[in-house]
Amino acid sequence: MRKPDIFDEIIQCLKTDGRIGADTSMNEETLRDLYARPVRKAPARVPAPAQNAQGVPPAYAPDLPEWESLRTECASCMKCGLGKTRTNMVFADGSPHAELMFIGEGPGADEDATGVPFVGRAGELLSRMIAAMTFDRKTETCIANIVKCRPPGNRNPADDEAAACMPYLKRQIELVNPKVIVLLGAVPLLYLFNLKGIMRLRGRWLDYNGIPVMPTYHPAFLLRNPPAKKDAWADLQAVMAVFGRKPAPRR
Ligand code: SF4
Ligand code: URA
Repeated sequence: MRKPDIFDEIIQCLKTDGRIGADTSMNEETLRDLYARPVRKAPARVPAPAQNAQGVPPAYAPDLPEWESLRTECASCMKCGLGKTRTNMVFADGSPHAELMFIGEGPGADEDATGVPFVGRAGELLSRMIAAMTFDRKTETCIANIVKCRPPGNRNPADDEAAACMPYLKRQIELVNPKVIVLLGAVPLLYLFNLKGIMRLRGRWLDYNGIPVMPTYHPAFLLRNPPAKKDAWADLQAVMAVFGRKPAPRR
């Protein structure tokens, strides 16, 4: 027989209180197990303000006050349920003065932790795609998403969340006024154009208020389906042609 300990006392109290017993779902053994389980220390939250080591937020543009006031507005936005669960609002990366804009779905875990879009595995691939296009991600592109706060569990944004967030993105597009927009995957295609079928529509130019738009695959999809990279690269080359750029020679 083991010696009675503090857990037996707790369980005895709960029994006396009638909180465990014949008609409760927790039996004594699982309860004891629960109490005796060592408490795991919660992992430290990445203290991640939406800024880099120099104290500058991503896509910072002090010369574009409306861009910065929009950022401030988004940072405290609670217009949809995603505001409650976010760590950081993810506004944009790159530069609002860029001529090439990318639009993704929404922040994932890494983006939520850092406040910067496309910094996880898919983001690394996007960075390589941008470099292959001979663009500088920080100064020559602007990267944003359909929703600015992370959908829990990396699900797609819901219709009402996308609708609530859309005015911010539309204003961002107006302010950036890019020469070309690239849509990454089905989610921006659905919410900016109400179109379904990225497989069929990728590679075909669309028009957003006079701005040419190229839908292509999302880099996360390309990570799961490497053979599709060939098509995505063809789409990006069509975009490069607008800028008169050719792929950098392979070394
Ligand atoms: Fe606001 Fe957009 Fe965040 Fe929803 S996702 S709380 S609309 S900023
Ligand atoms: N996927 C997206 O669509 N957007 C991000 O910012 C990161 C991953």
